[in-house]
Amino acid sequence: MTLGTTSHPLTHLLLALLSLLPMAASSADSTLPTETWRPQFHFTPATNWMNDPNGMVYYEGEYHLFYQFNPFGIRWGHMSWGHAVSRDLVRWEHLPIALLEENGVMIFSGSAVVDWKNTSGFGQDGKPPMVAIYTGHYTTKPLQNQQIAYSNDRGRTWTKYAGNPVLDIGEADFRDPKVIWHEPTQKWIMAVSWPQHRQVRFYASANLKQWSHLSDFGPAGSTTGIWECPDLFPVKVEGSGQQKKWVLVVNVGSGAPAGGSGCQYFVGDFDGNEFSLDASFPKPQPEVVPNGLILGDFEGEGYGSWKATGEAFGTSPARGKIGGQQAVDGFRGTGLLNSFTGGDKSQGSLTSTPFEINRKHLSFLIGGGNHADKTCVNLRVDGTVVRSATGDNAERLSWKSWSVSDLQGKKGILEVVDREQGGWGHINADHFVLADEPARPAHTPALWADWGRDFYAAVSWSDIPVRDGRRLWLGWMSNWEYANDVPTVPWRSAMSIPRELMLRSTPTGMTLVQRPVRELANYRGKQHRFSGASLVKANQWLQKREFATPLLEVELELQSRGTEGITLELATERNETVEVRYDPGRSSLILDRTRSGRIDFHEKFPGRYEAPLGLQEGKIKLNLLIDRSSLEVFGNDGLVCLTSLMLPEGKTRTFRFHEPVGSWKIQQLRIWELQIPKL
Ligand code: FRU
Repeated sequence: MTLGTTSHPLTHLLLALLSLLPMAASSADSTLPTETWRPQFHFTPATNWMNDPNGMVYYEGEYHLFYQFNPFGIRWGHMSWGHAVSRDLVRWEHLPIALLEENGVMIFSGSAVVDWKNTSGFGQDGKPPMVAIYTGHYTTKPLQNQQIAYSNDRGRTWTKYAGNPVLDIGEADFRDPKVIWHEPTQKWIMAVSWPQHRQVRFYASANLKQWSHLSDFGPAGSTTGIWECPDLFPVKVEGSGQQKKWVLVVNVGSGAPAGGSGCQYFVGDFDGNEFSLDASFPKPQPEVVPNGLILGDFEGEGYGSWKATGEAFGTSPARGKIGGQQAVDGFRGTGLLNSFTGGDKSQGSLTSTPFEINRKHLSFLIGGGNHADKTCVNLRVDGTVVRSATGDNAERLSWKSWSVSDLQGKKGILEVVDREQGGWGHINADHFVLADEPARPAHTPALWADWGRDFYAAVSWSDIPVRDGRRLWLGWMSNWEYANDVPTVPWRSAMSIPRELMLRSTPTGMTLVQRPVRELANYRGKQHRFSGASLVKANQWLQKREFATPLLEVELELQSRGTEGITLELATERNETVEVRYDPGRSSLILDRTRSGRIDFHEKFPGRYEAPLGLQEGKIKLNLLIDRSSLEVFGNDGLVCLTSLMLPEGKTRTFRFHEPVGSWKIQQLRIWELQIPKL
C-alpha cells in the first residue's frame, strides 16, 4: 500500500492524545450488530482498521504483536503501530498505540528485536532495550526510508531515534524491514523489500544505526505482484534432529493462486551475506512456441487470405490497443486481431481459408471478452463448430491449445467472432499455429505458504527462547482486493491463528508446513468423538450433534479406496455453507465459500480455492479451526493451509458429508468446542 494522505496539523494533536489512551479490550457482549462476527481466538483491534502484523518479538514472558493501525478510522490510512501482548498466543491484551504517525511520516511495517548486547546503546540500567525497525512513509513526498525507535519498559513506551532515518536510498518504494541477529557473523541483518523491482535487499549493521548493503535477491518465484513484507529465518527440518534450512518469505501484492495478495517463500541458505536457493527449488520454464504451420500471424498490412465481415476488425491488424481501450499486451510481433474498432458495440468476424488438419495441436493467443459463442475463436469442420474458446475479460492475450488429434485429415476453418455489443464485447487473437506440440506460456514456479485468500504479510516472532526453539508466525487474515470493504464494525481485520513452522522434505522439494500453536489445545472444552468408520453413520451422528458454541476445532482422517471426491460441509441454521472438498483425481483440497453468508460486499470475495495435496498411503488428514468469521484448514499435518474469511449470519454450526460414497472410510473424527474465557 502506498496511498498517500496529507496530514493536517490538528491530526498530530489528535494522534498525540490518542496515543495516551489504552485501546479498550474487545467486548464479545457488545450490542453492536456485527459483533457476532468478532473472532474470539483470533486477534482483532478493539476498534478501527488493522493490516500487517509488525514488530513481533518475545520478551520476559510476553509475546508482542504490533500491527498496522489507523487510529482514526475503519479504512486504511494514518498508519501507526497498534500494540497488544499475550502470554500464550491465544488471548491478547490491548495496549496503547506504540508508534504514532507524526510530522507527515506514517509508521509502515517493520520488525522489533531485543538488543541483548546493547549494541545500539539504547539500553538502561543493564537491561537490554527493545528496538523497533520500521519504514517511515512520507505523506508529503514520494519517499520511504528505514527508521528505528526503542523502548526500555517492555514495549510500553517508545522513543523515536533522533538520528532517523537509519537507511535511506531515496526511493518511493522501499519498505518493511525485518531485522534478525545473525549469530555466526555477529551482525544484525536487515531484509527489506524493493517492491517494484521484485527484490529483497539485505543490509548488515553492528549497532542497528549504520547499515551497509550486502546483496539483493530476486526477481524469482512469483513476480506478478509487488514484493512486500519479507522475512528471513532458519527452520528445522521435520524428523531430522537439529537440521535447519533458511527460509526467505516474500509477500506479494497480487498474483497469489487464490487471487490477489498472498504469501510465497523460498528455501535455501543464508551465509551472512546472501541468500541462495536450494537446488530443489523448481526451475522457471520458458515460453514454448512450437514450430509448425502458421495459419495467421497478422504481421503485415491487411488480412491477407482471411476474410473480414462487419466493422469491428477494421481493415487491417491492430498494433496494440485501439482508441480508449485498456492496454493490450501478450501478442507476438507487432500485429494482432482486435475487434475494438468502434468500441465494444461494433461487431464483425474474420474467417481463414480452409486448411488440412495434419498436426496434433492447434495453438493461438487469445484475450478480450468472455462471452460464449459471442466473443470467441471457433474451429469449424464441415460447417460445424468443433472447438471454441473465449477470452477471460482481460485485454492481455494468453496461450490456448486444442488437441486436434481426432480431426486428422479433415479440412478446418478458423473464425474469430465478435457478436457482442455490451461490456467486454470484443475479442483479441494472434498467432494461430498448427504443430505437433502445444504452445505453453512461460512459467516461473513459486512456493505458497497458504492457498486461501486471506493470509498476507505473514512474518515471524523474534527472540523466542532457545529452550522453546519454535519458529512462530501469523499473517493478516484478509486480502488487499477487498480488505477495505469487509463489513465488520467497529473493527476491520483479524490476524490468523499463530502457527508453528517446520520444513518437510517431500518428493517435490522442501516444503514449509504450519500447525496452529499447541497453546490453543488448552482451550479445548467438550469433545465430540465419532467411533465408527462409515460416512453414512457419521452423517447420522453429525446430525445429532449440538454445539454450544460456533468456536470449533475439527480433526478428521479419511481413507480412500477409490477415486471419488468427498466433501465436508459446514453450515449454519440459515443454510449458509462452506465446503471443504478433497478430490483424489485432481489431487487437490478445495475450499468453497460461494454460499458462506455475506458475500455481496465485494465481487472478489466469493470463490473456490484449491491447494495441491496428494493422498498419503490412501489417507487424507484435515484440521479445521473455526472462529466466528474465519475458517483455517490444514491438510496432511500442515503441508497445505487454506485460510478463509466467512461471514455467516447464522449462529449455530453443523457438519455433514456430501456424497457419502462407500470408497471413503473414517479413521478419526473429533470435534472440540473451544472455550475462550475473557482475560
Ligand atoms: C503490506 C503493506 C506494506 C506496508 C503496509 C502499509 O500490506 O502494503 O508494504 O508497509 O502495508 O500499511
